[in-house]
Amino acid sequence: MDADKHIGIRNVSSICSLTQLDDHDLSRLLEKPRLNIERQRSFDERSLTDLPTLLVRGSYDNFDSMHSPGGRSGIDTPASWDGNSFNPHPIVAEAWEALRRSLVYFRGQPVGTIAAYDHASEEVLNYDQVFVRDFVPSALAFLMNGEPEIVKNFLLKTLQLQGWEKKVDRFKLGEGVMPASFKVLHDPVRKLDMIVADFGESAIGRVAPVDSGFWWIILLRAYTKSTGDLSLAERPECQKGIRLILMLCLAEGFDTFPTLLCADGCSMIDRRMDVYGYPIEIQALFYMALRCALMMLKHDGEGKDCIERIEKRLHALNYHMRSYFWLDFQQLNDIYRYKTEEYSHTAVNKFNVIPDSIPDWIFDFMPMRGGYFIGNVSPARMDFRWFCLGNCVAILSSLATPEQSMAIMDLIEARWDELVGEMPLKIAYPAIESHEWRIVTGCDPKNTRWSYHNGGSWPVLLWLLTAACIKTGRPQIARQAIDLAETRLLKDGWPEYYDGKLGRFIGKQARKYQTWSIAGYLVAKMLLEDPSHLGMISLEEDKQRKPMIKRSSSWNC
Ligand code: GLC
Repeated sequence: MDADKHIGIRNVSSICSLTQLDDHDLSRLLEKPRLNIERQRSFDERSLTDLPTLLVRGSYDNFDSMHSPGGRSGIDTPASWDGNSFNPHPIVAEAWEALRRSLVYFRGQPVGTIAAYDHASEEVLNYDQVFVRDFVPSALAFLMNGEPEIVKNFLLKTLQLQGWEKKVDRFKLGEGVMPASFKVLHDPVRKLDMIVADFGESAIGRVAPVDSGFWWIILLRAYTKSTGDLSLAERPECQKGIRLILMLCLAEGFDTFPTLLCADGCSMIDRRMDVYGYPIEIQALFYMALRCALMMLKHDGEGKDCIERIEKRLHALNYHMRSYFWLDFQQLNDIYRYKTEEYSHTAVNKFNVIPDSIPDWIFDFMPMRGGYFIGNVSPARMDFRWFCLGNCVAILSSLATPEQSMAIMDLIEARWDELVGEMPLKIAYPAIESHEWRIVTGCDPKNTRWSYHNGGSWPVLLWLLTAACIKTGRPQIARQAIDLAETRLLKDGWPEYYDGKLGRFIGKQARKYQTWSIAGYLVAKMLLEDPSHLGMISLEEDKQRKPMIKRSSSWNC
């Protein structure tokens, strides 16, 4: 694993070689001064002359630079630096306290954070569990604050859970499936801690979480990048874990597309919301996980085969997504004029999308400048809805070209009221209403228009927006969004989501003290404070990938 040899050189190369160190030595070596809340507080005392030292403290210039020799994306340039972010907002300290309250311990070790710490709520449901996807912003907050131990514990604990035999009724799930969530049960009498995990067999709707495995891989790379601790990713059980997750997706079958076919509700939107098929959220996470895996897998016997498959898939996925999921004014106009029923490989309208199926709203929504990856593409179906997570991850993983990334930012600016409104950020736009809502959601009372997954506003998405803004050199967009969130988040008790066209109302059934709302805010703040943190969750453009070929000439490649 040549690439890995370059990880974290910043941290330890002057001391001794990484392979000479065991876990214990490494963690001692890498021990940074505890930053914690004190660090947040001290920023207002810090003079501007300290800025350059802060900027080089980060770690984005090692791990992936092997694969993207283009180097930095300009994120450390003074132009993209937002000096205002050094004034810590009073709610930062409160947020850290709330985040620490959400910690979950297993045999005395912190292993994750609970989804919501809402004592007022009558129904606990599964909000008292550690969700894999929910833990990601918590993990990033801890990594950025120099506390990697909990992230390591989480990665190892979930890896153990992956090894369990998983069944729904009498049907056995694939070996690689990672849980959606787990819960630690304390038995005070026998002084025993036990874990129960949910792989979809208890989840509402009984859907396995496709995103969990991808987030696990992405987080393992973030940990490695941030700490320089190669030894975790190099462990045989971690290597196997990565391979098992990806083997579920890379197996050959009936697919005619490189995208991953999914059931409704298999990701953050974990209820029926018409996101079955090839949802952008999963495709973008898949792409990012494949790229992260490529950086961490060893070139040994089993790893080699996996690496080859990954490379082939990345190539095809990149082409497919950039060509068929991308929508801008020009593309919309082309689809509007599509001919249908074209047979053979010369077809321009490959998926036979009928122009009459284009929804009215998109003609007003699409600005002259700007574009985005649409929600879903499959035979005769284009879901034109905007999904925030998928588009931000497309930017972070460099699935989007630099031009496409800029266009996504242009769209967010041009459609600020619709996508940000009074509380960042809309999970999806627009909402599905009336008869369509009945058919699409199965009359789901939680997903009524402009609520929850159906056009609700989720503060957790703030960290993804901020990361995407920094990557594209437009931190002022994030600053505006954070300012909006700060006026209400603490006062409202860190709700899970907001309702309404502008996101003005606390969500109908939103939990309070939702951990990822808290952690998402902290990560957004820390990213703005020190943009070099971006390297943990961002990958540079892969220069080896061929430039995009025009759609009409693509049939023979
Ligand atoms: C909701 C969200 C899901 C999240 C869970 C726990 O079900 O849709 O994405 O993981 O709550 O917070």
